[in-house]
Amino acid sequence: MNYLYQRDFLRLLDFSNIELESIIILSKKLKKIKKNNQETQLLKKKNIALIFEKESTRTRCSFEIAAFDQGAHVTYLGPGSTHFGTKESIEDTAQVLSRLYDGIEYRGHSHKVIETLSKYSAVPVWNGLTEKFHPTQIIADLLTMKEIFPKKQFFEIKCAYVGDSHNNIANSLLEASAILGIDLRLVSPKQYWPEKNILNICKEKAKKNSSKITCTDNIKEGVKNVDFIYTDVWVSMGEPEKQWKEKIALLKNYQVSQSMLDMTDNNSVKVLHCLPALHSQKNIIVKSILKEYNFQDGVEITDSVFQKNKNIIFEQAENRLHTIKAILISSLVKNINF
Ligand code: CP
Ligand code: NVA
Repeated sequence: MNYLYQRDFLRLLDFSNIELESIIILSKKLKKIKKNNQETQLLKKKNIALIFEKESTRTRCSFEIAAFDQGAHVTYLGPGSTHFGTKESIEDTAQVLSRLYDGIEYRGHSHKVIETLSKYSAVPVWNGLTEKFHPTQIIADLLTMKEIFPKKQFFEIKCAYVGDSHNNIANSLLEASAILGIDLRLVSPKQYWPEKNILNICKEKAKKNSSKITCTDNIKEGVKNVDFIYTDVWVSMGEPEKQWKEKIALLKNYQVSQSMLDMTDNNSVKVLHCLPALHSQKNIIVKSILKEYNFQDGVEITDSVFQKNKNIIFEQAENRLHTIKAILISSLVKNINF
């Protein structure tokens, strides 16, 4: 029985630990099948709409390739290319698209928009990132964690998320950790801790699942003995540029550097990043930030730490494809037989 059939994928808290684990198991199988060139197409004759109101490299490409590999067709609806939310309401658009498509992906600003889309859509809606959540990213990160520690259960994993804990990545990692039992430390200045309502629901959930959720501004305490340090950009898409000044002032000590890794007391600590990362002066944004704020060697992560961990970080990026494929199949195929 596939309990995910025809379900939306808006935020991770909508799922049980068994459901999340089943997506990860399916992703693992699909990754192996693709590497062995043995793909069986389960999404033939399916049509998928991809609405992107913000830029994307990994998410868009992963949805497209996952669909193509599985025999489905996609329509990319980029920023400003439809009447969505301007001449036509979200309600009407949802009803029209669900007569034409078998599923709708949405990346945009407010999480309320995707909730409305889902309310009026008759087909599954997948969250490709909103300002509150980025659930498909975290499924890829969970697969990456499992690949690094195949023998560990999630409740045996310790992870510190360092930087802006008020953003979509932190919120979705928090939800996943509360469900799966991960010992998660959100390490940020108090101003950047998650919204109270998300934190409180997750803490409640965590109690039932023996997870340990901690928010701390103490870097040394937060990263001690962790298996993973995870970070993301300090200013997310859609946030005003002027945020940089305040964020750099408050977050500069939270840069993932070798001295932070040393504080973990774990020589084999691994670093995760959802990408894009501001680590190298080859990136024009990094160059201008370093110049303007007198910063050295990367922004949220130093270039040397990034280079040391790039195989894992790029594996995370590849895993977007396998996990998004698993999510599409889980929502659109009633009986999955592998
Ligand atoms: N990590 C991620 O979602 O990347 P894109 O913005 O390139 O899709
Ligand atoms: N927090 C980042 C994630 C990018 C994948 C953003 O929303 O821009």
